[in-house]
Amino acid sequence: MDDKTMKSPNVVWHEAEVSRAMREELNGHRGAVLWFTGLSGAGKSTLAHAVERRLYEQGAHTFVIDGDNVRHGLCADLDFSDAGRVENIRRVAEVAGLFVQAGVLTLTAFISPFRSDRARARALLGEDFIEIYCNTPLDVCESRDVKGLYKRARAGEIADFTGISSPYEPPEAPEVDVDTGTQALDVCVDQVMAYLRQRGIIA
Ligand code: ADX
Repeated sequence: MDDKTMKSPNVVWHEAEVSRAMREELNGHRGAVLWFTGLSGAGKSTLAHAVERRLYEQGAHTFVIDGDNVRHGLCADLDFSDAGRVENIRRVAEVAGLFVQAGVLTLTAFISPFRSDRARARALLGEDFIEIYCNTPLDVCESRDVKGLYKRARAGEIADFTGISSPYEPPEAPEVDVDTGTQALDVCVDQVMAYLRQRGIIA
């Protein structure tokens, strides 16, 4: 947040004595944000939780921040208008940044439909930001319709529904592009794990 929008100017940053590097050494892996983006029903949460399980099994410190859950609490005051989504993603990026400082491998599962919002998260998090595109086409998401929301959106019962009455801007150069539409879950998890190993984030 820039100085103009900050409403608490008289605050001074307090440096921690236990640094991020110390935490990462203790944990045996780096902190990072695995930013899963894609349409509703693309498989973001499913993949994020499956990757988390794999990471947990090898002793990593992890946490999934999930859109549907965050909108019950931290972001319960936000709607699905463009402005509501912008603020949702801004808060999540900030929270994810705190988790990274704690040395945690943080997995976020949000539609995060706007490129500009993801770019802002990337700018905030720098090389800690790993964009993972859950690349499932709309017709597949709609045919899955796990929560029955597409049907309701088509019937006009839900306004501003991503893919139907609100846009989704796919990533142009994601770090990982996962074919969550046709590939088996295990294959998708392998792909993400391979990327993390290749980057030296996990052993
Ligand atoms: S985001 O666009 O701001 O990133 P977020 O990931 O938090 O969205 O929430 C998406 C979830 O909210 C969807 O998986 C779906 O279950 C639910 N939802 C409810 N209304 C909408 C809507 N209008 N558009 C998209 N998702 C919606």
